[in-house]
Amino acid sequence: GYRAEDDYDYLFKVVLIGDSGVGKSNLLSRFTRNEFSLESKSTIGVEFATRSLTVDSKVVKAQIWDTAGQERRIKLCFGKEVVDLDVFSEIMGIFACTEPLQVLTTEELWVRFWYPNIVVMLVGNKSDLRHLVAVSTEVGKSFAEKESLYFMETSALEATNVDNAFAEVLTQIY
Ligand code: GTP
Ligand code: MG
Repeated sequence: GYRAEDDYDYLFKVVLIGDSGVGKSNLLSRFTRNEFSLESKSTIGVEFATRSLTVDSKVVKAQIWDTAGQERRIKLCFGKEVVDLDVFSEIMGIFACTEPLQVLTTEELWVRFWYPNIVVMLVGNKSDLRHLVAVSTEVGKSFAEKESLYFMETSALEATNVDNAFAEVLTQIY
């Protein structure tokens, strides 16, 4: 039946992190508005968007925070500075985004260090660029297993696995 915008059972806060250009903002716009942009501008600061999903017949409202990848280099997304920020204080899930062109770095490990108790999904975005892949699915999978992360390959462009990835994290939080 009808549910008002603010009628939900749970509010889960989730944050997208990862290098500049891997597609965080497009994953978010694909999930919340079914939109994709070939020429999206680099994010400055943090922004959020929401979408509600039904999990186990409960309405789960996901408030998803998008961060600026450029800041990663100065460790804003991983350092204590951010943990103390209000926005990140109640985070329950993290999408650590990467793309097939990148070689995975130990930075992904830091997520576990700073946020030991929350659901983390390693997202290999741009799976549509499979012909350019530098990190194979197997490498991504075994890395994720070793670090106790969930793992999914997505394409914001083709809308592949985007809903699945978000739904998986929300379900795991639930
Ligand atoms: P910052 O805001 O700088 O941290 O970058 P971001 O991670 O938010 O990346 P953004 O979503 O702005 O995407 C960067 C570029 O990659 C854009 O040109 C997008 O069109 C492109 N892109 C995003 N997702 C995909 C995808 O799944 N496949 C392909 N081929 N391109 C993508
Ligand atoms: Mg962005």
